[in-house]
Amino acid sequence: MTNKTLPAWEQADPSVHADDPRAVAFRSAYPVRPVPAVGPVVTDTICATPSLGFEKLWKAIEPETRTRANDIHLPVVAAYATRLCDAYPEADRELVLVAVILHDTGWAHVDENRIISEGFSGNWRKAAIRFEHEAEGCVVARRVLPDLGYDAEFVEKVCEIIDGHDTRQVAYSIEDALVRDSDRLWRFDRAGIMASSSWFGMPVSDYVDRLSREILPELITDAAHQMAQRDLGRATALLRTEAIR
Ligand SMILES: [Fe+2]
Ligand SMILES: [Fe+2]
Repeated sequence: MTNKTLPAWEQADPSVHADDPRAVAFRSAYPVRPVPAVGPVVTDTICATPSLGFEKLWKAIEPETRTRANDIHLPVVAAYATRLCDAYPEADRELVLVAVILHDTGWAHVDENRIISEGFSGNWRKAAIRFEHEAEGCVVARRVLPDLGYDAEFVEKVCEIIDGHDTRQVAYSIEDALVRDSDRLWRFDRAGIMASSSWFGMPVSDYVDRLSREILPELITDAAHQMAQRDLGRATALLRTEAIR
C-alpha cells in the first residue's frame, strides 16, 4: 500500500482554543513562527545527548513507564526537551522537563485495548482515549509531585501542560510549546519511527512521508524544525525508504 491510497490524517484545527487568553498571550509574545531560537540548536542524533537528573521522579513513575513503550518514549522526549530548553533559555526548564517526564503516564491508567484501536486509527487526534490519557496523567502528577517537594502552584502548571498536550492544537506558553514540540520530535528519531509506524499500522515509507508532510509543519519552534529535518534525513537514508516503498 502506498500513501497515495491512504487518506490524509485529519488536520489539526488551530482555531479550537485559539481565543483562549493564554493562547492569545503566547501568540502576541511569540508572533514569529516557527519561533526563532536564541540559544544553541543541536541537530546531532538524539542518542548523543541523553537527558540528565530527575532520578526520583523517574523512579516514582516506573509503573507508568511499562505501558505503550513509555520507557522509551518518555526518556527520548526528555532528551529532545533538554535540547529545546537550551535553544529557548527563557523557558522554565524544570517545568518543561517535569511536564515531559509525566506527560504520557496516563496511558498506564486507561483501557489498554483501546490505546491502539482508538488512539492510533481513524480520527485519532479526537479519540476519547486521548482525552482520558491526558486527564489520567494529571492524576499521576498530582499524586507523585507533592512528595517530591513541588508546591501546589507548580503542580498545577504541570497539569495545565499535560491536559491538552495531544488534543489541544495551540500552545499556551513557551513551556507548553517546548513540551509539544519535543513530544512530536521523538517521532522523527528511528526509535519513534519504528514504534509509531507500527502503532499506526503503516509502512515506514508512508509514515516518514506523513512526518514530513503533516507533522513537521505543526512544530512550533524553529529549533524543533531544524532537529526534525535533520533526523528525518538521517532516518530515511538509513532505512532506505526511497528504495523500500
Ligand atoms: Fe500523549
Ligand atoms: Fe507523548
